[in-house]
Amino acid sequence: MTEDKRLPYQNPALGDGERIADLLGRMTLEEKVGQMMQLDARGGDLEHLIVERHVGSILHTRPSDLLKAVDMVRRKTRLGIPLVIGDDCIHGYSFWEGATIYPEELGMASSWDPAKVEKMARATAEEVSATGVHWTFSPVLCISRDTRWGRVGETFGEDPTLIGEFASAMVRGYQGGAKAGEPLAKDAILACAKHFAGYSETQGGRDASEADLSHRKLASWFLPPFERVAREGAGTFMLGYESIEGVPVTFNHWLLSDKLRGDWGYKGMLVTDWDNVGRSVWEQKVKPDFVHAAADAVKAGNDLVMTTPQFYEGAIEAVKSGLLDESAIDEAVSRILAVKFRLGLFEDPRLPDQKRIDAVIGNEAHRQVNLELTRESVVLLRNGSRAWNADGADGADDSQADKPVLPLDAKSIHRLAVAGPLADDAQTQLGDWAGNSGQVSWMPEGQPREMITTVVDGLKALGKDDDFEVTYTKGANVVVLKDDPNGPVFPDGQPRPKVAFPAPLDQRLLDEAVENARQSDAVIAVVGDTIPLIGEGRSSATLELQGGQVALLDALAEVAKADDKPFVVVLLSSKPQVLPQSALNADALLWAPSPGMEGGRAIAEILMGVTAPSGRLPITFPRHAGQLPVYYNQIRGQHAWRYADLTQDPAFAFGEGLSYTTFSYGEPQIEGGETPFGADETLHVSIEVTNTGSNAGTEVVQAYVGDLVTSVSWTDRELKTFGRVELKPGESKTVTLDIPVSACSIVDADANRIVEPGEFELLVGHSSRRRDLKRTTFTVE
Ligand code: NOJ
Repeated sequence: MTEDKRLPYQNPALGDGERIADLLGRMTLEEKVGQMMQLDARGGDLEHLIVERHVGSILHTRPSDLLKAVDMVRRKTRLGIPLVIGDDCIHGYSFWEGATIYPEELGMASSWDPAKVEKMARATAEEVSATGVHWTFSPVLCISRDTRWGRVGETFGEDPTLIGEFASAMVRGYQGGAKAGEPLAKDAILACAKHFAGYSETQGGRDASEADLSHRKLASWFLPPFERVAREGAGTFMLGYESIEGVPVTFNHWLLSDKLRGDWGYKGMLVTDWDNVGRSVWEQKVKPDFVHAAADAVKAGNDLVMTTPQFYEGAIEAVKSGLLDESAIDEAVSRILAVKFRLGLFEDPRLPDQKRIDAVIGNEAHRQVNLELTRESVVLLRNGSRAWNADGADGADDSQADKPVLPLDAKSIHRLAVAGPLADDAQTQLGDWAGNSGQVSWMPEGQPREMITTVVDGLKALGKDDDFEVTYTKGANVVVLKDDPNGPVFPDGQPRPKVAFPAPLDQRLLDEAVENARQSDAVIAVVGDTIPLIGEGRSSATLELQGGQVALLDALAEVAKADDKPFVVVLLSSKPQVLPQSALNADALLWAPSPGMEGGRAIAEILMGVTAPSGRLPITFPRHAGQLPVYYNQIRGQHAWRYADLTQDPAFAFGEGLSYTTFSYGEPQIEGGETPFGADETLHVSIEVTNTGSNAGTEVVQAYVGDLVTSVSWTDRELKTFGRVELKPGESKTVTLDIPVSACSIVDADANRIVEPGEFELLVGHSSRRRDLKRTTFTVE
């Protein structure tokens, strides 16, 4: 188009505000309402969505449809407003064949290394942006407390500080450092902080139900990570599915208007979650029809409405009947258009770029980023022969290394038995939202098998030059799938997944594994959960290993004990499990939450001592699902320390994780700590850490703060900062950490965050357990 024929909104020389106003003035009500819709591109009829519904955005777009969609906008729509194309690229671009797939968020968090996660997000943005997708629905900032919830693996765990650190790192990586409103570089993508807020807190872990959350509880734990990424410049926010005090989040004025848009001054775009607006009619039944649902969703401040096709007629009718003022629609559309101008889509629709695709998708540099992160995501929970303290009653430290068996001594092992349904299941190892995990249909076989290293692959690769044979038997099945008795589709037409039932014990598989174990020098069992047991709509009543897995562990433990050979359990579950005695008493126990493509290699390297484990738990492991919620930062004060029939002490606590060496801590020093601190000062903390063992290792130094007396009940201690430190055998280093006094806050009875003057304790050490922490105090005036 020649420059003089250009309309103001097409003219890049003008400011975004002017262009948006011009464009808005040209749009019909139908075009504006369509602009507010994000519809599912998998349905097939793109022309209907784009030409008749004027949609502003699509998701889950088959790669071969993407160009068609963009072209259709150009050729067949009146104003040619580009689509913003989004997808769930939450641990790599899972729905693009050959993309790099990283550990799920819980695995990333186990690294306690936000810098590595920032690199991961940067690499993901390079891959995703090359394919023509502009926006990822990531990171997840939900706090996992009731771990029966099916989506725990998608989160960074249980702690608001840790979540805030990781989520900010991810936002920086995706957006290439662009702050709020700034243009995004060609190789950057928009981030989406989700699911705002409290979605993980639904009752009984039941997905998308009611969450019992007061404003104070939200302000105390659930909002701080979101506030952090709002300030970091996360381009968009997605709203949760749940209701709070009877109001679905989609209509929650306090969260959307008072907090997000009000107190935090957030200017980005809000997107509902999947059919939130429709569900208020057909599922939650809090709106009589789609007209009222659409009107109320717009009034509450939602911008883009995900996959509610009825929003179109509903919103148009709401305006025509006077239920909704068109100016509210204009505001929402302005924010959507602002995103499109920010991405520069009117000048450059950021089409798939084959050259870049060839260069970046699944490339060697990204594989390396993945491997380095995955190595750090593996948590060694037990290593040694000490018997498991089943009740935790004497407070003994169960985890400490005592005659460690790991790393395995390759020289004394000629035949290594590997058993378990997760040991060689490449696609399950990737976790949810990956290839064939159920969300899209165009990758029925999942990601290319040759890109994925399972534990069996990893061990075989390490042993190939030696007199070292790896023999694999499956040993057990996990689930059997049956049709949902409620029918093949949900009321909104979405396909219903099959229902999982525990697989019956398969004696033949078990016998094979036992026989293989008998003939070997060491036994490794790889167990965990599988996709039908986790994810959206799939919470679990128990946290136990399903199917024949417990019987397998019991049988292998018995063989190993009888023959006095090492027995190691590798848990590849997406979230903490309740483990049987045979796993807790194994010679070693490792956890790698949905570790992605490099998982098998990272685990094998750790088992064989090529690398040392350095992951730490970002979430607590219960001993029994009846202990839930069992997170470390509980409110203090209760009449007991145990249930009548079981301790409250968890199996493994937040922050725990072993190395192949031991560390000792000096006493924490606070610079100038003799005099009281003002609320705007920062504590500079130092502590000496020594590697007291004979192997190199990485310690994660954790600093917690407790306010000794608070005006309202509060937690005993909260993580404030942390840092990784690498130490050679015998080496000591002084680690310094900064804690702003403003972070030593509580939330008062009116849901305001405040710092209360008085005495505080600073606890620095190896994990959230008091016995692992060194203490000093300081005063705030
Ligand atoms: C529903 C999920 O809750 C959300 O996390 C996801 O981003 C959207 N569907 C889009 O797939």
